[in-house]
Order: sequence, then structure tokens, then C-alpha cells
Amino acid sequence: MKHWVAKKLICPDCLPEEIPLELFSRQEASDDIIEGELKCPACGRGYPIRNRIARVRPQKAPWIQSANSGKNGYNAPLMLSAYLWSHFGDLLEDARATDAYRIWSNSFQPTRGDALDIGCAVGRLCLELSKNHDRVIGVDTSAAFIAKAKEIICRRELDFDLIVEGHLTQKHHLKFKKGWHFDNVDFIVADALSLPFRRHDFASVAAINILEKVPEPLRHLAEVNRVLRPEQSMFLFSDPFSWDEAFSAPERWLGGGNNGSSPYSKRGIDTMRRLFAGEFGVFDPPLEIASQGDVFWKIRKTENLWEHITSQFLLGCRRINSG
Ligand SMILES: C[S@@+](CC[C@H](N)C(=O)[O-])C[C@H]1O[C@@H](n2cnc3c(N)ncnc32)[C@H](O)[C@@H]1O
Repeated sequence: MKHWVAKKLICPDCLPEEIPLELFSRQEASDDIIEGELKCPACGRGYPIRNRIARVRPQKAPWIQSANSGKNGYNAPLMLSAYLWSHFGDLLEDARATDAYRIWSNSFQPTRGDALDIGCAVGRLCLELSKNHDRVIGVDTSAAFIAKAKEIICRRELDFDLIVEGHLTQKHHLKFKKGWHFDNVDFIVADALSLPFRRHDFASVAAINILEKVPEPLRHLAEVNRVLRPEQSMFLFSDPFSWDEAFSAPERWLGGGNNGSSPYSKRGIDTMRRLFAGEFGVFDPPLEIASQGDVFWKIRKTENLWEHITSQFLLGCRRINSG
């Protein structure tokens, strides 16, 4: 973990109090802490740094284990292969690749300040955001995804195995182009529901295809509001709204029909528009919708097994805070 990231971190277990973590470094190379610990001076909890990666997730978060485990969990080799293709398939010059990450990142204006990508997976959007932000942090609860993302910024090239079928894999190598500012990007393991960052620390926040994957979608959005600057800031939200009881209880969904007593709209994108406008008190100040649309995105699980996904996006802006 880079030193500039350590300076931003607070204790996720002490939220809503924002207690800065203290760094105890044991081994470093250049600006990167290889081994060490982050410690909370208030609750005494320690968060390890191993192999250059800090794990700053709360102690009690059983949803992390359930999202990551099993053959289709986010730590599984199948998912690593699937997301590496999704994020970097265009650089393999695979004609079936989409340009989803470029579309998402192009919606951001060049901005002074830092960006945060929540649920960053193997990090493509963070690399793109490094072109128009001072610094970028990607957070994810999958240690396997974060390890690969970190390897990319350290080596500036990538070796990986794509699953063809079953245990048959095909090796790939990518050397990354100029234009991404690798030194200004870093990745940590952290939870979207207890972000280890101070209030108003980020000029831009992205939350792409994660809303339906967390047990408390509204709490995730409240965390976005907490860390996003109250003025001169942007929030890029995108989701297919494929609500799934395996991740969240239907009464917590922000769309998908609900029942007659739900305060939310039947369609998730309509609820999100209302939330951006300040309804339900989550986004304060509200976000003005600067652009919106559909992004076509694919996940390649094996050579013959694909998921085709339409992700609906809203880019919300806060300009000058009149309050
Ligand atoms: C559907 S994937 C989307 C990944 C990436 N944003 C993209 O669009 O390519 C959902 C991501 O959210 C991560 N995730 C799930 N629950 C999370 C949580 N509570 N906090 C942070 N990340 C989480 C998963 O590990 C996975 O990388």
C-alpha cells in the first residue's frame, strides 16, 4: 500500500466516528509498504498489510465471506478469469470485447482531486480514471481481485490464464500502454458498507454494478454520500438491477417490484433518480444528473459461457454548494 493511501485511512470499525489509523511499517520498497499493520488508537483493532495490500475491512461483516466463497464467488479462479477478460479483453484485441470501461470513464470531466472506485474488481476503471484525476483508489472485498489489480500497477504488465472450458486454460500476456498513471493508483481490500475514508475526501466516486451485490444497498449509497465532496464532485452510478435474494433481502431492494408498502419506485433506475434528487435524505446535497444511458457489458466465464448485461448509468454532479 502506498504511503499516500495510508494517510487517508480511518477505522472502519469505529464508524460513524472517523478515527485516523496509525501506520506501523515493517518492510517498504520505494513508496510502497510491503508488510506492516494499521492500528486504530481508539478501538485498538489492527488491520494487516501483507504483500503490499492493506485489508481494512470491518471485523463483523459476514456478507464478505458469502460473496467471495464457492465456485462462483468473487475469489474463485473462474471469476478472476471472467473479470480479467471483461476488464482487459479489448486490449487482447478480442472482437467480442466491449468498450464499457472507456464509456464509463469518459463520462468524468478532468478533475482536481482524488477518485474512488467502489467494487473495483481487477481495476480497469481505476486505471482509466488515473488519466483525469490526481489519484485513484480502488476498493473491493475480493482479495483475489485486489491482488491481481495490485500486480498490474506494480509490474505494468499482466500474465493470466483464461478458462477455455473446465480445467483447460489459455495463457495471455499484456504489456500496458502509456497514458495510465500507475504511481497514482492503488488498491485495498475494504467494504462498501464501511468505507475506511474520511467524510468528503473524494472528488469523484464510481459504483459500477455493485448496488445489487451488497446486503444493504441504501447504506452503500449513504457511504458514497459521506465520502463524496459536497461541491465540485461527481458520482458515477451504474447497475443492471438484477436483484438477488442471495445478496440482499427483497425488503432492502430499491426496485424490482417491491410490494405495495415500499416507498421506492418499482424500477431501480427510477428510485436512483429520486435518490439523486435528494428524496429519502441519502444524497445531501443532491446530485444533478449530468448524463445517463445504458452501457452494454459482458462477462466471459468460459469460451462458450457468456453473460450479456445492460447496465443503466447515471452521472450525478454537485457544483457550487449554495448552502
Ligand atoms: C458485479 S462485480 C462489478 C465489478 C466492477 N465494478 C465492474 O463493473 O467490472 C461486483 C464487485 O463488487 C465487489 N463487492 C461485492 N460486495 C462488496 C462489498 N461489500 N464491498 C466492496 N466490494 C464488494 C465484488 O468483489 C465484485 O468485484
